Amino acid sequence: MGKVLIVVGSRREGNSYNLANKIKEELKKERIISYIIVPGNQKIYLCTGCMDCDKNGVCDFTDDMQKNIDRLLECDTVIFITPTRWNLLSGDIKIFMDRLNPLYTTKKLVNKKMVAISIGSTKKDVYSNFDASISLTNFATASKMDCVLTYEFNDCLNFKDILKQEDNINELIEKLKIICK
Ligand SMILES: Cc1cc2nc3c(=O)[nH]c(=O)nc-3n(C[C@H](O)[C@H](O)[C@H](O)COP(=O)(O)O)c2cc1C
Repeated sequence: MGKVLIVVGSRREGNSYNLANKIKEELKKERIISYIIVPGNQKIYLCTGCMDCDKNGVCDFTDDMQKNIDRLLECDTVIFITPTRWNLLSGDIKIFMDRLNPLYTTKKLVNKKMVAISIGSTKKDVYSNFDASISLTNFATASKMDCVLTYEFNDCLNFKDILKQEDNINELIEKLKIICK
């Protein structure tokens, strides 16, 4: 049975966090274990670009990324849920991604499944959330992860707007059940 890491890109208990909880709850019914992390609420130093990890696959910093990396290695699928910010992924997710370089160096991200979900306040025809998804899939391409699904939620401004989009959530969860099995 697969294990799933859900990475939430917003610090507030808003749309991204509410969606993560919903996914976790529904996957649990299928006996799929998932872990939610919110990097923005953890202690994570910014990558300095020292490149030491290119030599030995280890980062010199001691912080919450050590347990995050252990979790990620345990999981077959990583689901990134980003609030769309300026048509891009959130800064917290980018900081998290930069600190995954030790796993790139040691080729431990290759072929791991990745799901890219973006959530924003704009309408579908603005393509803002689509662009945010692209910024997540660009990471998959560069890291050699296997992006198996992208999904966008539009019209989400306030904390719990996403919970009104029941049909979209159900459609997403049906797809995730197959991917994360
Ligand atoms: C700095 C900032 C930039 C944003 N830029 C966009 C944007 O480019 N497109 C969009 O659709 N929504 C944008 N939003 C709105 C958020 O994506 C939206 O409110 C989202 O639902 C927030 O997710 P959360 O509730 O998980 O924090 C922005 C919000 C902030 C704070």
